[in-house]
Amino acid sequence: MKFVPAKWPRKLRSQEWYGGTSRDTIYHRGWLKNQGYPDDMFDGRPIIGILNTWSDLTPCNGHLRELAEKVKAGVWEAGGFPVEVPVFSASENTFRPTAMMFRNLAAMSIEEQIRGQPIDGAVLMVGCDKTTPSLLMAAASTNIPSIVVTGGPMLNGMFQGEAVGAGTHLWRFSEAVKAGEMTQDEFLNAEAAVTRSSGTCNTMGTASSMASMAESLGMALSGNAAIPAVDARRRVMAQLSGRRIVQMVKDDLKPSDILTRKAFQNAIRTNGAVGGSTNTVVHMLAIAGRVGINLTLDDWDLCGRNVPTIVNLQPSGKYLMEEFFYSGGLPVVLKRLGDAGLLHKDALTVSGNPIWNEVCDVKCWNDDVIRTVDKPLTDQGGIAVLRGNLAPNGAVIKPSAATKELMKHRGRAVVFENIDDYKMRIEDDALDIDETCIMVLKNCGPKGYPGMSEVGNMGLPPKVLKKGITDMIRISDARMSGTAYGTVILHTAPEAAAGGPLAVVRNGDMIEVDVFSRRLHLDISEAELEQRLSNWLPTHDSAASGYAWLHQTHVGGADTGADLDFLRGCRGNDVGRDSH
Ligand code: FES
Repeated sequence: MKFVPAKWPRKLRSQEWYGGTSRDTIYHRGWLKNQGYPDDMFDGRPIIGILNTWSDLTPCNGHLRELAEKVKAGVWEAGGFPVEVPVFSASENTFRPTAMMFRNLAAMSIEEQIRGQPIDGAVLMVGCDKTTPSLLMAAASTNIPSIVVTGGPMLNGMFQGEAVGAGTHLWRFSEAVKAGEMTQDEFLNAEAAVTRSSGTCNTMGTASSMASMAESLGMALSGNAAIPAVDARRRVMAQLSGRRIVQMVKDDLKPSDILTRKAFQNAIRTNGAVGGSTNTVVHMLAIAGRVGINLTLDDWDLCGRNVPTIVNLQPSGKYLMEEFFYSGGLPVVLKRLGDAGLLHKDALTVSGNPIWNEVCDVKCWNDDVIRTVDKPLTDQGGIAVLRGNLAPNGAVIKPSAATKELMKHRGRAVVFENIDDYKMRIEDDALDIDETCIMVLKNCGPKGYPGMSEVGNMGLPPKVLKKGITDMIRISDARMSGTAYGTVILHTAPEAAAGGPLAVVRNGDMIEVDVFSRRLHLDISEAELEQRLSNWLPTHDSAASGYAWLHQTHVGGADTGADLDFLRGCRGNDVGRDSH
């Protein structure tokens, strides 16, 4: 797509606050001058909001304040005026009941911070899982020129001579302790070894997947996704992004120019190629909803179906983000997709150029880390969308992280009514379960948990683990950490708390799963299913007030991105009236 830059100079939105000689503008300028800015800072140059999700309690983004200094340097160099603005930071590893419940609150608050403040462009400083989608959603809804700078992944973890991935090995070690293969002391020693530097999870978990989504959507400079947090080139990327956003403002290159249907299709295919997280599905549906692109679960299945997974990274493969970067990173993946006819080469990026211009000349430095399309890690990567009487609106599974032999299976349901029920009974030797059963977890969706927690990859019962079994089919309306793995069917919609068929599955029911034909079937008669649904009463906890109430009242299904219904769509960045 050919982008035609706007004429420059022209009046920018920040001049509504800082331009002219009225009492109001004197008021606004005067206050900012108390920070020591000279007159010419207010001469109509682009004011760039560096929206920073730094927080001591978002350790994955703990280095973003230093990194913001490099963004500022770039903005100054390009003749802009940088202002750093702290924004809501929904940390994956601290927020309860789940960071996902606050993704929409963060997006809403940041949208208003953008709209209500005198900024002409935004640098989205993100990293940890929910920070990337929440800022992208806000940028899409306000449609102000924006560029993503991620914090980058942490260095490889090492434990007992083995490279260990953040998240992925936590799940593995925890199962090993339950199976008696690892001591509790060893598990405790692994704690600091797994996450040993600044940065986001070093697997192709949700953070790395969302960084890959931002780059493949065209919202970050080429090469941004994989540079390690502590590598000097991460700081170079920040500085270059600071320079670039100033020109984007001058050109009026907006998210709506970049976030087109083609861009989302590129991102979906990229997710398949990198073996990305299932969480990207729900986030990309939400971001698309903010720009008015009608992206559906069927787009995920259709676009992703023939995409091979070529990135050999945990949790689907072997390596970690450091090796991915050294091998050439995401540009190599995009180049290989383009060569295979799986990329819209003309999709526009923040550079102002088509995506293909950015990647067509890159080289791969390790074909075992980034495989060629004809020697992939998995033939059919991507996300499979299952449907049937158990998931009329769809459910998702990541085939590359699943066990092949379980992808077509009929098994007896062992039902947990909610996560507390699961925790209470899973270690009980009297639990009637074996490896052929299908574990079913209810009331963990967007309304039910509330917030759609990452509990879908329920740990297996110890009595099964002790037999050396490492995977069973699990079905829920929950999500799963991007660092997790297994034959795990997620995001079942409608969710149990909204009266979906998942709510009426009973112990002993037979369930048929066929990933190859995309089927998820509860083997009871239609009449029986209707009867159970008509007798169903909700059992999840309902909030009476506060944000939890707002969330439960207005959140949509996972199949449409679990956004709040009143936040979908682009509301623009009209500066509104001034009260001074
Ligand atoms: Fe923050 Fe993984 S927990 S990136």
